[in-house]
Amino acid sequence: MAEPLLSAQNLVIGYRRAAFGASQPIVPVVKGVSLSIARGEVVGIVGESGSGKTTLGRALLGLIAPMSGSIAFDGTPVSGLDEQRMRPLRRRMQMIFQDPMSSLNPRHRIRRILTAPLLLHKVARTMREADQQAAMTLERVGLPPGVLTRYPHEISGGQRQRVGIARAIMLKPDFVLADEIVSGLDVSTQAQVLRLIGALTREMGLAMAFISHDLSVIRAICDRVIVMRQGEIVEEGACDVVFDAPRAAYTRSLIDAIPLPVPDSTWLTRVDVAA
Ligand SMILES: Nc1ncnc2c1ncn2[C@@H]1O[C@H](COP(=O)(O)OP(=O)(O)OP(=O)(O)O)[C@@H](O)[C@H]1O
Ligand SMILES: [Mg+2]
Repeated sequence: MAEPLLSAQNLVIGYRRAAFGASQPIVPVVKGVSLSIARGEVVGIVGESGSGKTTLGRALLGLIAPMSGSIAFDGTPVSGLDEQRMRPLRRRMQMIFQDPMSSLNPRHRIRRILTAPLLLHKVARTMREADQQAAMTLERVGLPPGVLTRYPHEISGGQRQRVGIARAIMLKPDFVLADEIVSGLDVSTQAQVLRLIGALTREMGLAMAFISHDLSVIRAICDRVIVMRQGEIVEEGACDVVFDAPRAAYTRSLIDAIPLPVPDSTWLTRVDVAA
């Protein structure tokens, strides 16, 4: 098997409780997780609130240091890198957030939000080049050029999420972490955004960790799923296999808890949501 793009071994991750002082032991919230993600693979991470999904995702991007365990991105260890050595990896690992309103700087126009990372990472050498790339990416995510001169609060929630996606793919990353990116959107906007994500991952050969509460969303776009409970992986496997025949009782209970008795893997392509 080819070497995975991203691999994590025995990750233990915790937060220090500031209120109790540094002498308090750190309580782990991710407890010995190992996973790997291949190039171009879309892996869903599902589990109840507080199960450690976001914590795991942030550690994979090198945003939180694990207490123990190791993470490697394309053969390079992620933990313990200084900012200078981390920078080339940062370009290759991007994130799309749940709430673009809080992740897009409200005082900057979309043009600046999209062009600044291009100039910072020297993907574009001139403002003119950055502008051209921003315009092309905006078009790719289905937004009109007029959006460039708007502020984040001057566009709709669905459009903001497309700007968040544009910002993440601008730098041509190899890996994107998407954390609950459609939770705040209505169902038809969700379907549009998910279709866009599906097309982009295929076109760009992009690997993705897709965190969601919603099993029907995971099933519609992920190749593989990891089910987390209380900081541990309780089940993982190909989406079709896990959803058709879950082995863990916990996975079964997640499937039973959603409104559709069995998540329908075809809902994204159905006519009623394709509008
Ligand atoms: N910055 C933090 N400081 C201290 N504890 C935290 C911090 N962030 C998360 N936690 C705790 O870590 C545990 C895991 O949280 P995490 O946000 O990773 O869960 P999650 O699976 O993403 O949940 P949700 O589905 O609600 O987003 C929770 O008990 C949470 O309270
Ligand atoms: Mg979370």
